[in-house]
Amino acid sequence: MAATKKTRSKKHKICVVGAGHVGLVAAACFAELGHKVICEDASKQRITDLKKLKMPFFEPELEALVKKNVKKGHLTFSYSLDNAVKKSDVIFLAVGTPPLADGSADLTSVENVARTIAFNLNSYKIIVEKSTVPVQTGQKIKETINRYRHGSVEFDIASNPEFLREGKAVYDFFYPDRIVIGTESKRAAIILKDIYAGLKAPIIVTNINTAELIKHASNSFLAAKISFINAVSRVCDLAGADVDMVASAMGMDKRIGKSFLNAGIGYGGFCFPKDLEAFHYIASKLGYDFGLLKEVKRINDEQQLYFVEKVKERLWVLKDKHIAILGLAFKADTDDMRFAPSEGIVRYFLEQGAIVTAYDPQAMNEAKQLFGKGTLRYAKNAYEAVKDAECACFLTEWDEFRGLDFKKIKKRMRFPLVADGRNMFNRDQMQRLGFEYLRIGG
Ligand code: UGA
Repeated sequence: MAATKKTRSKKHKICVVGAGHVGLVAAACFAELGHKVICEDASKQRITDLKKLKMPFFEPELEALVKKNVKKGHLTFSYSLDNAVKKSDVIFLAVGTPPLADGSADLTSVENVARTIAFNLNSYKIIVEKSTVPVQTGQKIKETINRYRHGSVEFDIASNPEFLREGKAVYDFFYPDRIVIGTESKRAAIILKDIYAGLKAPIIVTNINTAELIKHASNSFLAAKISFINAVSRVCDLAGADVDMVASAMGMDKRIGKSFLNAGIGYGGFCFPKDLEAFHYIASKLGYDFGLLKEVKRINDEQQLYFVEKVKERLWVLKDKHIAILGLAFKADTDDMRFAPSEGIVRYFLEQGAIVTAYDPQAMNEAKQLFGKGTLRYAKNAYEAVKDAECACFLTEWDEFRGLDFKKIKKRMRFPLVADGRNMFNRDQMQRLGFEYLRIGG
């Protein structure tokens, strides 16, 4: 995958701070665009692994892109932020902003990096927020750098929020719907636009606060869309209507759009849950009670409970029942289990004394770390997972599951009950195959 045309005026010296899902992808993609990129991470282990071309997580296309650009000399890895900063003209911050107990974002890493940049400001640099941060963080970064820098070397702050999805991250980088650049400096805007030259996408240049808000508002709106359809799914179940048909017909209205209207066990991952909370928190702090966001979260949390209750109602007592969990990752094409809806569901079944066997095409290692040994059983594939099961719960919409031989699945199960948490299968087909089939919303 490559940029569409090359109209850039120069190759830029870029440092990406943080080799996580956003940082590593951005670093590899900037390198692919022809820039000279240093990807820095505070974890020595992560950098050592990356130098050996060992990826820290699964992301389609990423490994090939990293290997190619390391070989070309466009991409290097470092755990010395001091050096990486000194050698770079543009520094993208892609460090973690995890949630605190009160819902606000923990900006400790952002502040630490800002201070280190201040100490190493040896020439004009643009410091760009790429991680999702609350509105007005750019202002704080500026104050921090001004406070700690020696001398009067110039710098500019910008916000360039990333909209890439895990599992589609490389594609999203090269084919974005829009590129948002927030900065008060013309010089920074010109350089940042040049960095992205070659990508066919509208570029929106605005001020930093607006750019920061675009990101939080976008993620929160998408989460709200999911909760909306999940609430509709509950009414569909009560009324005997089909939520998939409702969503599909709603989505034909261009003003609504088809995407993010798949009902199921709700959203998870490291972005929506924390960003929604952080947006609510910052809005309250600024003086506005954004109650809608609380409701979006409540509906989302309830979907997991609704799903397990459906299973429980059918199996009556869960103690000693064999339950197969197919899919653990928070969505397909990733091994990420952070805030995955599967976690709450698995824990519920375990608490009820069920015997749980799980399989996921990519997230098995993550699951072992999360649940530990001696809690649930881990299967090598879906067929092994469903052996003697009284219920097979599909919790992640992997393509692999769509291609399963359901006659074989049925033969291996003790009782042919399928609970589809992602509405992946066709009710009529499943029933024709002899399954009792539970789904969400009709
Ligand atoms: C999300 C946004 O989509 C990205 O634009 C953004 O850059 C990213 O967060 C971020 O802030 O870093 P991501 O968390 O990778 O991306 O995942 P999504 O594809 O958006 O899915 C989020 C969750 O919603 C998943 O659990 C998914 O299963 C669920 N979902 C999605 C539904 O339940 N129904 C839908 O119709 C769509």
